[in-house]
Amino acid sequence: MSDTTLIRGGTIVTAEREWRGDVLIAGEKVAAVGEGLQAPAGAKVIEAGGAYVMPGGIDPHVHMELPFMGTVSVDDFLSGTACAAAGGTTMIIDFCIPAPQQSMLEAYKVWRERARKATADYSFHMAVTWWGEQVFNEMGTLCREHGVNSFKHFMAYKNAIMVDDATLIASFERARDLGAICMVHAENGDLVFRMQQEIFARGIHGPEGHPLSRGPEVEGEAANRACQIAGVVGVPLYVVHTSCRQAMDAIARAKLAGHRVFGESLVQHLVIDDSVYRNTDWRSAAHHVMSPPFRAPDHQQALWGGLQGGTIEVIGTDHCTFRTEQKAAGKSDFRKIPNGTGGLEERMSVLWHHGVGTGRITPCEFVAATSANAARIFNIHPRKGTIAVGSDADIVVWDPKATRTLGVKHHHSRNDFNIFEGMQVTGAAAVTLSRGTILWQDGKLQPREGRGQYIERPCFTDYARSQTVRNKHFAPTAVERQEFVP
Ligand code: URP
Ligand code: ZN
Ligand code: ZN
Repeated sequence: MSDTTLIRGGTIVTAEREWRGDVLIAGEKVAAVGEGLQAPAGAKVIEAGGAYVMPGGIDPHVHMELPFMGTVSVDDFLSGTACAAAGGTTMIIDFCIPAPQQSMLEAYKVWRERARKATADYSFHMAVTWWGEQVFNEMGTLCREHGVNSFKHFMAYKNAIMVDDATLIASFERARDLGAICMVHAENGDLVFRMQQEIFARGIHGPEGHPLSRGPEVEGEAANRACQIAGVVGVPLYVVHTSCRQAMDAIARAKLAGHRVFGESLVQHLVIDDSVYRNTDWRSAAHHVMSPPFRAPDHQQALWGGLQGGTIEVIGTDHCTFRTEQKAAGKSDFRKIPNGTGGLEERMSVLWHHGVGTGRITPCEFVAATSANAARIFNIHPRKGTIAVGSDADIVVWDPKATRTLGVKHHHSRNDFNIFEGMQVTGAAAVTLSRGTILWQDGKLQPREGRGQYIERPCFTDYARSQTVRNKHFAPTAVERQEFVP
């Protein structure tokens, strides 16, 4: 079989521009981009007339086989990366989450083992779930030896993986000195805990209690706190799954103050509102239980505005799927419903349909939000996130006219529920190539277990330290400050 492929006659789109041209792939890399390229003898030819040729999607927020709330999410690295490919996504970044007191390096090994079956590429953020000298040291090892440049902090999930401000500050300082980026799940976990108790005591036990216990203020407070702490410490910050105006405002304020803060929203939050929790069908309502919860429609408008205006750089999914029998753990107590929804396969089509199809964003902005910005923020650009000579041939040939009805019957997830059930979308992946290998074509998956590669992401050099606020407050620190401050 030839290892050369020519994608002919499409409209190539990157985050910067779109133009008519051909893409020649040799082995795993893009070998040439131009007009009228000739297919070498024996090359495979993909006719892309009428289609867009875009960098494969990167979803930097997913959880495969995550042990969480007493169960394990059902999509694993094989089904998850297969779903991804069917939807035009060629790389995921998962979260390695050590149990409190567990070694990060030990957890990293466990996640690497789990991920060996992936059919497309993957990488890991590391969660900081406790603090101590071991964590301080292991953060350094992960950065230097394992290509982990991002550290996630859960400000919610009290009595489980939540961290307090002291841990946040210590970890932010360490990440800053390593040239890493910090991430936060921004909800005030103490407030959530208190509200959950109150709401449950009032006799509200069903899924409708979930959004009541974690309103937009709960998220806005935590987002603001994280942004301000990151600004004072002087570390870049990435706020995951921003779902409401209050959190968006906190991110926008921090950006305007010159802090290097990035906003992520989920495609689910853009198109689904909080009416789902008023559904009297328990199963449906429970399948929408995720954190932060779905919000009232005015928040969706704010998120679209944030995406259009640059407060939100990335649209991810937080793909974390639980089947009905798992959600049933919270049948009589909403606090026990495992939190999480899917979306990895649907992300690109839903964003295209509701974003590009409505004129809210351009195809270039679509590429930025689904691929290029994540590649830049997590330091794998231009290997990923663009179409250029030398880049990995992670490419989606996108049919802007293809229509799909989303739902369980058509998806490749192991979940028995789809929160987009019945949604009709126009715009879908016709062919998905992962480092030159076709994983999806003509509506058929061709997954190859174990061909996905772990992608190392080196730490940042200059830009992580170009913080105006930090420069005002601190003298520059050594790149590799080694002392541990308890
Ligand atoms: O509800 C959610 N989002 N579940 C996955 C874990 C997380 O908070 O990201
Ligand atoms: Zn989260
Ligand atoms: Zn998550």
